[in-house]
Amino acid sequence: VFAHLVRAPEDPILGVTVAFNKDPSPVKLNLGVGAYRTEEGKPLVLNVVRKAQHQIVNDPSRNKEYLPIVGLADFNKLSAKLIFGADSPAIQENRITTVQCLSGTGSLRVGGEFLAKHYHQRIIYLPKPTWGNHTKVFTLAGLSVKTYRYYAPATRGLDFQGLLEDLGSAPSGSIVLLHACAHNPTGVDPTPEQWEQIRQLIRSKALLPFFDSAYQGFASGNLDADAHSVRSFVADGGELLAAQSYAKNMGLYGERVGALSIVSKSADVASLVESQLKLVIRPMYSNPPLHGASIVATILKDRDLYNEWTIELKGMADRIISMRQQLFDALRSRGTPGDWSHIIKSIGMFTFTGLNPEQVSFMTKEYHIYLTSDGRISMAGLSSKTVPHLADAIHAAVTR
Ligand code: LMR
Repeated sequence: VFAHLVRAPEDPILGVTVAFNKDPSPVKLNLGVGAYRTEEGKPLVLNVVRKAQHQIVNDPSRNKEYLPIVGLADFNKLSAKLIFGADSPAIQENRITTVQCLSGTGSLRVGGEFLAKHYHQRIIYLPKPTWGNHTKVFTLAGLSVKTYRYYAPATRGLDFQGLLEDLGSAPSGSIVLLHACAHNPTGVDPTPEQWEQIRQLIRSKALLPFFDSAYQGFASGNLDADAHSVRSFVADGGELLAAQSYAKNMGLYGERVGALSIVSKSADVASLVESQLKLVIRPMYSNPPLHGASIVATILKDRDLYNEWTIELKGMADRIISMRQQLFDALRSRGTPGDWSHIIKSIGMFTFTGLNPEQVSFMTKEYHIYLTSDGRISMAGLSSKTVPHLADAIHAAVTR
């Protein structure tokens, strides 16, 4: 009965890993998916995660019962504290509803479905470009997707004027997707002053901000600094949505741990929101998984584990920053034509190299280096040993 199907294309990001896995070359390098690797090129399980896991599996009082529809209560409370700040007035006033979801993607999808059902304006503006999955998530949730200018290829920076113009002419009430920090795929973030102007524009036009926070702590190594944009929108007393992921900052990729928070104007509204979020979640996946959320809650509530986590997190962020410098130096020492300073200026996990799809496919074919066709490379997949190979490949691609 399914013989009529046409073959669907591989996912533009996860499909890169599928192709990488099929390549037998010993020098192959996967810079496609945003997943942290050690200097030895191996996936990293944080020490603090191992400790928390150990505590959990050796605690006889724990069981494997279903979680409530909204997830683990401690996890939700601590997640809100992490992103909004322990002293957030919205937390103190009980104006935030937080529900545990399946990592960042699941949080975006639950938020999108909730908005499609209950919000008066179904238009969502996404930055151009944005993480490839955003468009599909929000379209399938029932929202109508539009874009706002974000990246200027000529300057390899923010098209701030374009952004202000596009959001300025968006229909009142439109939803605006904002990357909280470490914009994916460009690595270009607004400055604090620009954030302030964006905030004023969004509030003056009664637009509804929806933050995607997938890299808190990963951008600068500082959890508070990376939450600055979100917190400034809470400080003004307005409403917003925020999706959090623990994939990158705790290395819990496959555990699928994340949270959706909705900040309302009053505690009464927040409780109505929660009741309706349950109706979105229950028919979708009933209730979320227990293990990953228990790991996160164990770390966030124990002062020693929390401190240890921040040190490991800073270690990952610093290693990525040092990869930026090494790649930049390697291209300079080869005399590779072009201004590569954006490699050191970009924020977070990725560099948007400016390489075109044809150059990307040359690098994959000739050098076994895998990256997304838009020229994005995951700096977290690089190591001191592989930088020269990547620099050789980029040099060859731009000089052929
Ligand atoms: C990425 O952009 O590479 C990550 O967010 C992984 C994913 O799911 O696409």
